[in-house]
Parts: sequence; structure tokens; C-alpha cells
Amino acid sequence: MTTTARALMPALTATLMFVAGVIAGWPVTAKAAAAADAPWGASYFPNVPLVTQDGKKVRFFDDLIKGKVVAINFVFTGCSESCSMETARLREVQDLLGDRMGKDVFFVSISIDPDNDTPEVLKQYAKKFNVGPGWTFLTGKNEDITLLREKLAIYAPPVLNGKSDHEVSLVVGNQATGRWMKSSPMENPQILATTLGSWLHNWKVPVAGKDTYANAPTHLPQMSRGEELYRTRCSSCHSLGAPADSLAALRAIGPDLAGITKQRDRAWLTRWLKEPDRMLAEKDPLATALFLKYNKLAMPNLRLSDKEVAQVLSFLEEHGAPPAPEKKVARQ
Ligand code: HEC
Repeated sequence: MTTTARALMPALTATLMFVAGVIAGWPVTAKAAAAADAPWGASYFPNVPLVTQDGKKVRFFDDLIKGKVVAINFVFTGCSESCSMETARLREVQDLLGDRMGKDVFFVSISIDPDNDTPEVLKQYAKKFNVGPGWTFLTGKNEDITLLREKLAIYAPPVLNGKSDHEVSLVVGNQATGRWMKSSPMENPQILATTLGSWLHNWKVPVAGKDTYANAPTHLPQMSRGEELYRTRCSSCHSLGAPADSLAALRAIGPDLAGITKQRDRAWLTRWLKEPDRMLAEKDPLATALFLKYNKLAMPNLRLSDKEVAQVLSFLEEHGAPPAPEKKVARQ
């Protein structure tokens, strides 16, 4: 198969050093990069032409990464599983980075399905996720995008289930200093934001807040497995008991989950958490109505086990009661 051969053969020697540093998660330091004659510059990264979600023609090296701190990943909008979760997690990182986005830090999400992901499709997709300034979605020619994935050492040949097998990974780096590392969009958003915002430092915007270690909690709160699941798998898209006009509710991609265990039938909820994709495909009426209401953005199948579904539901049951109506205080 040509794609497989392509994945294994080319640029192997050229990428080996890069891969070694990147895969192990070790930063390739500025010094090392300089010593090796700045290998992660224009001579390493292909300057392939790409088109943004706004239809603007750009070049990968010159326009997207040169002199910048960037997070690069590969997505495709037709993917209902890992990609929407990845995009939702990165969106959290974007929110945490605040003002730095588009000034100090840039996100680059490149489609691996350029035939279907036209600029218009990508624009719609970015809109569904409330993507802000500094985050560009791109499409281009298949062969150019494959070359980029190889060079970034995150090419996985589509061997099992076609395209949805693309490797879920993210390359973050500072082109100016030559520091690059491989991460995952599933990484804790706080850690990713810290990596991008301070570890790869070349700030133009000052650090917000005056937190010191002296204010750090001395012990970590005990968290149930259900809460842990909620925080790592659900909270990038859902809020829980957030007032309708709060930022959390406005930023949420899916419905607020407060009181959901009382509102919905248990069997429906259990199945929904196991296989929302199948329920939608089977045209379950509620699933279809929700899908239409929430921007036609499908809730991903998160591959939860029966036990995990029960755990997350019992967390929602305990913590997701709608806020009690305010008691009227009699004035004297
Ligand atoms: C990538 C975003 C995303 C993630 C992650 C996600 N959801 Fe959803 N969820 C949605 C969307 C969007 C909807 C609305 C239905 C649709 O469009 O498919 C939804 C709908 C729901 C509903 C139905 C609400 C109702 O009114 O009946 C429940 C329950 C739910 N999600 C629970 C969860 C739980 C629990 C998790 C974590 C284990 C989770 N979701 C993870 C996006 C997400």
C-alpha cells in the first residue's frame, strides 16, 4: 500500500533526531538546536501552501510557525470521536491562555481530509467550537499534508478503521528557540496552557495573577472516580449547574448537566453515555432533537465501560442538582 510505504520510508533519517526528542517528550533545547545548525528551521519544515478557514492562502513555515510558539494538531471534521474531544480540550487551553492567543501563542489545526474539509466546512466547525483569534484551521493538498505529518513525526497510516485512526497527538514548540515536544490534546488543559504560555516562553503579554506556591493547597481534595471522569472527559464540553447567563454556560458546547439524572430516563442516559453515535444513527428522537439544538455537533462516543458510565452518572446524581430556588428573606 503506497500510503503505508510512505509512512515508513521517507525522511526517516532526517526526522530521527526530531522524533527522538519529541517522542520521549524531551525538549530539544535551543542550544542543541543551534549546535545542530538550527535543524528545526526553514530547511526542516516544509513550506507547503495551505488555505485557512477564511480562504486565505498561507505557507506552513513562513506564515504559521516562523518565530512563533505554536500547538499543531491534525483533525477532520467528519470524525465524531477523538477529534471533537481534542478540539474541545484545546478550546479549554485557548480560554486559559486568554490574551496570549494570537499574540504569543498560535494554534494550527490541519485537516487530514482535505477533500471534504473545504475552507467553508472548517469555518463552520471552528464556529461550533467558539474558536477565537490565533487559532487557524487549514486545508490543502493531500500529499502536502501527509508530508507535514511525517515531518512532525505524527503520521499514523490509516490501517484499521480508515481515517479515524489518525494518531491523537499534538506537537508544541517554539520555532524561534528550537524547543519542540510531542504532547496530547487530551493532556490536562492547565498543563498544556502552562507549557505553551510559560515553558516555551517568549511572552509579549505579562503573566496574569499573582499566585505563589505559598497559596498552594497543602493537600489535594479527594476525588471520586466519577468526578475524575467528569472533569477529564466531560467538562470540556458541558457545564454543571452554571447559571444560564454565566460565561461557563455560554462557553459550553453541550447542555448543562445539572439535574439530568432526574430529567432523563436512566436506561436512556446509560445507553447515551455508552453509544451516542449509534443512537443518533438509529434516529432516536431525543438524540436527534438534541443534535439539532446543539449546532449539529455530535456528542462523541467516549468508549466508557459500563462501570465508568455508572460512576459518572452517580457523580452527576450527587453533584448535579439544580440550584435550590432562592429563599425570600422577609425584610423588617
Ligand atoms: C466534544 C464535546 C462533548 C463531550 C466531551 C461530552 N459531551 Fe455530552 N453532549 C455534547 C453535545 C454537543 C450534546 C448535545 C447532543 C448532541 O449534539 O449530540 C451532548 C449531550 C449530552 C447529554 C444529553 C443531555 C440531555 O439533555 O439529555 C448528556 C447526558 C451528556 N451529553 C453527558 C456527557 C457526559 C457524562 C460526558 C463525559 C463522560 C460528555 N457528555 C462528554 C458534547 C459533548
